[in-house]
Amino acid sequence: MAAVSVFKPGLFNQKVAVVTGGGTGIGKAISTELLELGCSVVISSRNAERLQKVAKEMRQKIPASSPASVTPVPCNIRNEEEVNNLVSSVLRQYGRIDYLVNNGGGQFSSPVENMTSKGWKAVIDTNLTGTFHCCKEVYTAYMKKHGGVIVNIIADMWKGFPGMAHTGAARAAVDNLTKSLAIEWASSGVRVNAVAPGTIFSKTAMENYKELGPHLFKTSVPFSPAKRLGVPEEISSVVCFLLSPAASFISGATLKVDAGQSLYRTMWEIPDHQAWPEAPEGENLVALKELLEPQSKL
Ligand code: ADE
Repeated sequence: MAAVSVFKPGLFNQKVAVVTGGGTGIGKAISTELLELGCSVVISSRNAERLQKVAKEMRQKIPASSPASVTPVPCNIRNEEEVNNLVSSVLRQYGRIDYLVNNGGGQFSSPVENMTSKGWKAVIDTNLTGTFHCCKEVYTAYMKKHGGVIVNIIADMWKGFPGMAHTGAARAAVDNLTKSLAIEWASSGVRVNAVAPGTIFSKTAMENYKELGPHLFKTSVPFSPAKRLGVPEEISSVVCFLLSPAASFISGATLKVDAGQSLYRTMWEIPDHQAWPEAPEGENLVALKELLEPQSKL
């Protein structure tokens, strides 16, 4: 059974949203809920074929009485020209862009020592530079004059992101970009916020991590204070809130939607080792050794 929005039917009637990465996982849930609330949605990602298929599926669920429509537009957000073309095609078709949801992104799992410069740059390019391209173009082409709302989807990287340092660095940068833009664009009536999801399960996310996927998701359950994983619909409702007039006084904020996960234990294990530099000599070190190795005196 499909989730039903808690928000008022028709809340976003006559509005237009662009959702990057709108065909899968969290982006698909956001697009689906916006459509349900009467918003016309342009879903964008690199995979044109999948976008078409998802748009068709979404279209079938729009009631005949709704003003909403869904349009798939393929775009690689790493490429500034493609982003500019995406924005101009939306403006040509709809004449407005009220909301931008920067959800498109991606990463692969790897310790830094095994990362190539090419792999690092690809992740920074998609997650950070792609978000910059989309924000800048939507702002200059439409929101500067008409206002609007931007929501950036980031990640739980508050304790660093060991194992995926590239995306941790990129998402932390987007968190900071969100704050800068909230101030720079306040005088245009543009609100800019971010949402930082905890571990969210979706079929597409699991497939993305290939054979590691099922293990990754199953082992992360005990690390959530909720003792369960989140689902994309638990992110989309928060995005709809931030886009809505209910959030009209919120800008420059990052909302952690993680059931407290970022305040709790991390999954990264540090093996026992003797590699750490010795503590300075002195009575405290002597007492510490006595505490930990009392038998050494015998
Ligand atoms: N999702 C993941 N990577 C992307 C990219 N380069 N462009 C658009 N959406 C994406």
